[in-house]
Amino acid sequence: MTEEKKEPKKSSSKPAGKTLDRRDFLQGLATAPVLGLFGYALKKEIDYQKAQKAAALGTPAVVPEQAELNVALLGAGAQGEVLLNAMLKIPNIRFRAVCDIWTEYNLKKAVNLLKKYKFEVNGYQDYQEMLAKEQGLDAVIIATPDFWHARHTIDCLKAGVNVYCEKEMSNTLEGARSMVLAARETGKLLQIGHQRRSHPRYKHAYEKIIKEAKMMGRMVTVNGQWNRSAAPDLGYPARYAIPADILKKYGFKSMEQFRNWRWYKGLGGGPIVDLGSHQIDIYNWFLDARPKTVMASGGTDYYDKATHEWYDTVMAIYEYETPDGIARAYYKTQTTNGSQGYFENFMGDQGTMVISESEALYSGLMYHETSAPPWDEWVRLGYVSAPKVIMPGEKPEVVLDVRETVSPDEHKIPVVLNDPYHKPHLENFFNAIRGTEKLNCPPEIGYETAVTVLKVNDAIEARRTLNFDPREFEI
Ligand SMILES: NC(=O)c1ccc[n+]([C@@H]2O[C@H](COP(=O)([O-])OP(=O)(O)OC[C@H]3O[C@@H](n4cnc5c(N)ncnc54)[C@H](O)[C@@H]3O)[C@@H](O)[C@H]2O)c1
Repeated sequence: MTEEKKEPKKSSSKPAGKTLDRRDFLQGLATAPVLGLFGYALKKEIDYQKAQKAAALGTPAVVPEQAELNVALLGAGAQGEVLLNAMLKIPNIRFRAVCDIWTEYNLKKAVNLLKKYKFEVNGYQDYQEMLAKEQGLDAVIIATPDFWHARHTIDCLKAGVNVYCEKEMSNTLEGARSMVLAARETGKLLQIGHQRRSHPRYKHAYEKIIKEAKMMGRMVTVNGQWNRSAAPDLGYPARYAIPADILKKYGFKSMEQFRNWRWYKGLGGGPIVDLGSHQIDIYNWFLDARPKTVMASGGTDYYDKATHEWYDTVMAIYEYETPDGIARAYYKTQTTNGSQGYFENFMGDQGTMVISESEALYSGLMYHETSAPPWDEWVRLGYVSAPKVIMPGEKPEVVLDVRETVSPDEHKIPVVLNDPYHKPHLENFFNAIRGTEKLNCPPEIGYETAVTVLKVNDAIEARRTLNFDPREFEI
C-alpha cells in the first residue's frame, strides 16, 4: 500500500458519556437541505430537550433516544450493500456520505440507491478526504476488505466518529489489537460485525436455554460447518476496470485480486476466517470459554493455488476448558459442496441444540435426552416448543446422525427473525451511540474471536496442535 497518510481533521463529535449542549444538537444544520430545514431544526430542538430531561434525571445521555444519526458507509461492495439495505429499514438514520475506491461501479450504485431514498449524499474515493470534509458524522460503517479494517477504523475513531466494522476485525492480530487500543484511547464506540451476537434467536438460546434453564446440561461436544458449492472466481465488467495505478495505491495487484481479495494472503484469511469466524465466535460465547488448544487440517485442494492462496477446505478441532469441564469443538468449512449449508450443533448430557442464522435451514431445534429431567417447564414458559411427535415411518424434518442415537423428542426454538439478518446488530450499535444499550460485540470480543480463528491457519501450516496462552486473549 502506498497511499499517503494524512492527519484527518478533528470532528466536532463529543466523547461518549459527555452531555451535549444546544450548539451540538444544532450543528449539522448548515448541511441540512434547504427543503425540510424547519422540520429538521424542530426535531433537533426536541431531541435537545429530551436529552436535557434525561440529564436532569441523572441519565448519562450521549445522544437522545430517537436522535437522528449522521452516518457514512466506507466500502460499498457486496456486504456494504447488504448493510445499506438493512439500515434503510432503521428509522432516524441520515446518510451523509459513501466512500469506495470503485467509483464508477460500487460507489455510484450506493450513492444512487441512497438518492432514490431522498438522502443528499456525497461520494468519495478516499476515506481521508471524506473524514476531512464530512463534519459531524456520528458513525462510519466499514465494509472494506479485511486488510483495510485496522487503518480505516483507527482513523475514523481518531476523527471522533463511532465505528461499526465488519468481521473479520482484521487479517492480523496486530491490526485487531491496535483497533481495541484506539477505541479505548478515543472513548468512541467500536462494534465488530459478528451479527449473531444481536440475533434474537441466538440471544434467546444463550440467555434462556443455556444460562437460565441449562436445558442441555453439561456441554461436551460442539460441531459446526459452513459448506458452499463450488463457484467460479468473481469477475467484473471490463469497461468498469479500475486503473492499475489506483489499484496499486489501495494495495491490489490486479482487478482479479481486487475482486477475490479474501483468497489472498495479506488481504483476507480464506473461508475459515471469512465464514468460520461467525460460528467459532458462537462456540466461545455459548461455551463461556476460550479454547486451550487447536489442531487443524486444510489445503487448497480444489482451486488453483496461484489465485487461492488460502485454503478451500479446512477442518479444525478445539479443546475448551469450560466452567463445567472439558468440551471439544469441531468446525469444517468446505467450498466445493454446499450440502446442509451452515449451522452450529451443541451437545450436552441432557440435550442438543442445532442453531443457525439461516431461517431457511435448521434455524433452531432442540433434542431432549431420554435420561434427562423433563423440559415441560421450559415448554410452558415458551423457551422451546412442545415436542414434535414423529410417527413410525415419518421422515424427520432434519436428517442428522444425531437422530439415530438420541431420543426423537424434537422441539423448536420458537424465535424467528423476519428482518434482514444484520438489522438487529446495527440497531444495537446505533442505540449504543444514543446511550440506551450496551454494544453486543465490543472490540474486546472481536479480538478474542480473531485470536481463536486466525490460529487455525497457523495450525494448518505448523501441522501440529497449537496451544493458546490465556494472555493471548487479553489486551
Ligand atoms: N457479516 C457478514 O455476514 C459479512 C458477509 C460478507 C462480508 N463481510 C465482510 O465485509 C467486508 C467486505 O466484504 P465484501 O464481500 O463486501 O467485499 P467486496 O469486495 O464485495 O467489497 C469491498 C468494497 O470495498 C471497496 N474498497 C476496497 N478497498 C477500499 C479502500 N481502501 N477504501 C475504500 N473502499 C475500498 C471495494 O471497492 C469494494 O466495493 C469484509 O470484511 C467481509 O469479511 C461480512
